[in-house]
Amino acid sequence: MDLEKKISIVTGASSGIGTAFSRKLIEKGATVYGLARRIQKLEKVREQLGERFIPVQMDITEPLKPESWVQEAFKGEHLPHVLINNAGMAHFGNVEDVTVEQWHTMMNTNVNGVFYLTRLIVPLMKKNPDHSHIINIASVAGLLGNPQISGYNATKFAVRGFSEALFKELRYDNIKVSTMFPGSIATDFFENADAGNTHPNMMHPSDVADTLIHLLETPDNLLINEVTLRPLNPKKPE
Ligand SMILES: NC(=O)c1ccc[n+]([C@@H]2O[C@H](COP(=O)([O-])OP(=O)(O)OC[C@H]3O[C@@H](n4cnc5c(N)ncnc54)[C@H](OP(=O)(O)O)[C@@H]3O)[C@@H](O)[C@H]2O)c1
Repeated sequence: MDLEKKISIVTGASSGIGTAFSRKLIEKGATVYGLARRIQKLEKVREQLGERFIPVQMDITEPLKPESWVQEAFKGEHLPHVLINNAGMAHFGNVEDVTVEQWHTMMNTNVNGVFYLTRLIVPLMKKNPDHSHIINIASVAGLLGNPQISGYNATKFAVRGFSEALFKELRYDNIKVSTMFPGSIATDFFENADAGNTHPNMMHPSDVADTLIHLLETPDNLLINEVTLRPLNPKKPE
């Protein structure tokens, strides 16, 4: 896809890789609707990226919220080409220490939120005469279970299953579906999960964003449906 003048939606655009994705998409000439809860953060991103970044305050865990926004934002020939389901979070800990509320928040954000938005955007992509692309951001935690991240594992495994089904369901509608499985990236994610701090050997958001752009720019009849990214040396420097 040539991203020039294409219309994209990035969830979780207020920080981390969502901001990096938005920056690279804008550099390629796309318009970005950036969704997140913290509107001040989104406004700051707009100050940096310019008017083609459109901040949208949205809590993706609220099932009805996206409906009115989608109806308002996309009309006539103004239809989305790219959806990046990126917003996500984690609560780490032994299974007996994860509260029911934390479990539901992870499920609602990382799984249900992806469904709430995708189910509204797919019919618009089907109407779009151009090719479209949905990229879901899972994690290596969507491929491998590990101690103290069972809830997060469950959500990201779910993202993988959802994505694989959609890739097969939507391919004949000219809609690509890809899943990214990144390892550790230096963002606020770990601090938000109370899981320590970032370190310089983690991947950099802009490098992860370069891979996302590569997936989007592949020729129309070439789909990279899954990609795993890892730091070569993941250890914290001594
Ligand atoms: N960092 C890593 O090592 C790593 C590795 C693999 C995969 N991932 C995945 O990458 C994605 C982005 O994470 P990140 O590393 O960039 O972390 P981050 O900096 O903490 O960003 C998370 C983003 O998700 C948004 N978000 C969270 N809950 C939301 C909700 N209910 N409604 C709308 N937006 C919400 C946040 O915005 P607001 O708080 O403003 O709503 C923020 O923009 C996540 O899906 C994460 O699981 C991260």
